[in-house]
Amino acid sequence: MAILKVAWMGHPVLRKLAEEIPRNALRSADLKSLVSDMLETMDEYAGIGLAAPQVHFGVRVFIIQPDQADDETLRVAVNPVITPLSDEVSEGWEGCLSVPDIHGMVPRHVKIRLDAHDHEGKKYSAELEGFPARVAQHEADHLDGILFIDRMTNLSTLAYGDEWRRYHAPRPEPKEGEEGEDAEGDEDAGDAPEDGEG
Ligand code: NI
Repeated sequence: MAILKVAWMGHPVLRKLAEEIPRNALRSADLKSLVSDMLETMDEYAGIGLAAPQVHFGVRVFIIQPDQADDETLRVAVNPVITPLSDEVSEGWEGCLSVPDIHGMVPRHVKIRLDAHDHEGKKYSAELEGFPARVAQHEADHLDGILFIDRMTNLSTLAYGDEWRRYHAPRPEPKEGEEGEDAEGDEDAGDAPEDGEG
């Protein structure tokens, strides 16, 4: 296990097309070790997602944990394919460990299917909606050399961390008595930006 160095915007590795993991390497010790290092690195930097190119490996692997408090939301995606499941797009705040301290509003598909292999080489298919779908799209973009800034349609929302937290970050919402009636709205990640970098 090791904490890996994170590449910052401007490093060419972030702009290259990452390569597929060959079939015969899906269960390799090298891949297991990379995934394990990526998990440790994401944890160290309190990220909610990390793609292999961000740690200087040009291969199609990412990990996400959209809810840092919930290990059940952790996913490893090897050779991922993302398919939008509807035309619905929503804007939401994003940040990135490779674009330190910067936040911006990014449009993403609200509902997607993620087809990938897990850390043991097993194929899976998952439907993701809202914030988890956003994080997966952000990480998948890294495999194609795309940063969230490239996806922004309104650069005037760009904000440094301090200013973002002061003027734009979501305020903690009162939970009492509101959960039942407002549950649907609460699930809309587009309107309920979360603090997290991938
Ligand atoms: Ni990122």
